[in-house]
Amino acid sequence: MTSTHAVPPADPVAVPAPPEEAVAPLMRGIAVLRGLTDAGGAAGLSDLGRTTGLARSTIDRVAGTLARMGYVHLDGSNAVLAPRLMELGNAYLAALRLPDLLRNHADGLADELDESVSLAVADGDGIRFIHQAIRRRALSLSFRIGDLLPAERTAPGPLLATDWSAQDWARWRERRLADPEDLGFPAIPPRSRSADAVDFERRVEQARLHGWALDDQLIEPGLVAASVPVRAPDGRIACVASAVSHTSRRSADSLRDSLLPRLRTAVAAMERELAAAPQPEAPSAPSGLAAWTSASKQELGGEFITSLARGLTVVTAFGEGRAELTLSQVAERTGLPRATARRALITLQHLGHVTVSGRSFRLTPRVLALGFPPLSKTTLTRIAHPHLAALTRRVRDSTSLSVLTGDDVQCAASVPAGRIMDVDIAVGARVPAYATSTGRILLAGLPAEGRTERLAQVRMAPLTSRTVTRPTVLKAILDRVREEGYALVEEEMEEGLRSIAVAVRDRDGSVIAAINVNMHSSRRSAEECVEDILPELRDTAARIEGDLHITGRFVRVPTV
Ligand code: PHB
Repeated sequence: MTSTHAVPPADPVAVPAPPEEAVAPLMRGIAVLRGLTDAGGAAGLSDLGRTTGLARSTIDRVAGTLARMGYVHLDGSNAVLAPRLMELGNAYLAALRLPDLLRNHADGLADELDESVSLAVADGDGIRFIHQAIRRRALSLSFRIGDLLPAERTAPGPLLATDWSAQDWARWRERRLADPEDLGFPAIPPRSRSADAVDFERRVEQARLHGWALDDQLIEPGLVAASVPVRAPDGRIACVASAVSHTSRRSADSLRDSLLPRLRTAVAAMERELAAAPQPEAPSAPSGLAAWTSASKQELGGEFITSLARGLTVVTAFGEGRAELTLSQVAERTGLPRATARRALITLQHLGHVTVSGRSFRLTPRVLALGFPPLSKTTLTRIAHPHLAALTRRVRDSTSLSVLTGDDVQCAASVPAGRIMDVDIAVGARVPAYATSTGRILLAGLPAEGRTERLAQVRMAPLTSRTVTRPTVLKAILDRVREEGYALVEEEMEEGLRSIAVAVRDRDGSVIAAINVNMHSSRRSAEECVEDILPELRDTAARIEGDLHITGRFVRVPTV
């Protein structure tokens, strides 16, 4: 879902003044990241100045530092959130463990019900999604991981509010008064009818009594949901599981009568999973961040805001097996001086991204507000495009990314070199896999099991006088491609066309796509191709994979 407000409103509830030790540049950096997130992932630098209230020169320096960190791309006077930023939200989700432990149960339930299923946690007086198993429908509105909804307009809200203190209720009332239209929740349409406060309090009592809650079109006409709390072994609500439908398929009543029993069964299995989960082992390698930020400072001088970079990377000290860290542990993980780590933690706590209990700090779901919702809706094609464009600029030949569809490769992204005689591959175009460099990478990367049978079925016809058409020869070529890690094809698809390709692998190491550089044969010899182009191509694949693996940690990334 896209943002419904072009310009995000300022935080409607008054924020207390920052503590004296708060790091102002870190606060500004987070304001810019939140502004970009609420604007849907991209915004003009001057618009960001308006929404954050920061001076344009400050925005430029903040954006420059975030770009250097790989957290945004700068495109002229626009800033676009970059996939690497998801490492912040990943740190929170990995520390939380719930997505890793419960994902299969949620996805299995969505398959069984043929409806979307989500997991949400409490975030102040709102709910924030930590997992989504989405069934695409003509009539569907789906939220993204990290989206924040006001508790009173959802089904999980009343369940989570059963745990609220008097102070939580007071904060909720204050927010409702300050923001009667829910403008502080850019993921949803503004509140139209005045759902009254008494109604929510009644729903909370019902939720306490029954152990489930419904959302009968509180967010939008048509959208209905039923929710059940998932309890941790200590009895606290760890998260809430929801089954979501549309009134064209089910009413709220039928959701309750037909889906609730199955939702409860799945939740019981989730609770058993939580009870049985062993303690995770903490990976201990320090991040070496301090050295990195110092090097960047030397390189970029005054334009690089070290305290912003250090403050944000404090977030990545947390993760699986590192849900709770003391100040010393944060300092040790990041390589930062204790005083620096302490001030960053104080700042993050002030902004609600960290909570402290005794001497232990932990991340809050609000970390997901730093870019996660728009970035989680990306595709491999979108991830790859800026890297292909950079490759095209460096090698001055056209580049593309393709995937296997049957016996063909289909182009999913392409960047022409802009030459007079250019190799222009149209996105969507299909060509036979056996005669192309990307195709050979993809065929060579087929799972070993069944590969021989699959290749035996490929029908090969000569496309030029050089096309390999003998299965035994193709098999030998593919064995070599696997060994050498690249495919070079000379005029087998088209006279005068040479191309060289390498694989793009997912987190499990499976080949999911191939990228290549295409050129007229007269541009370089085959040897020059291997010597000059292959390292560039490998470097580009590594960058795409880096982004893909960060994005794909908690999110399914489709090709297009
Ligand atoms: C959702 O997962 O999209 C969802 C869950 C609960 C609601 C509304 C939407 O009340």
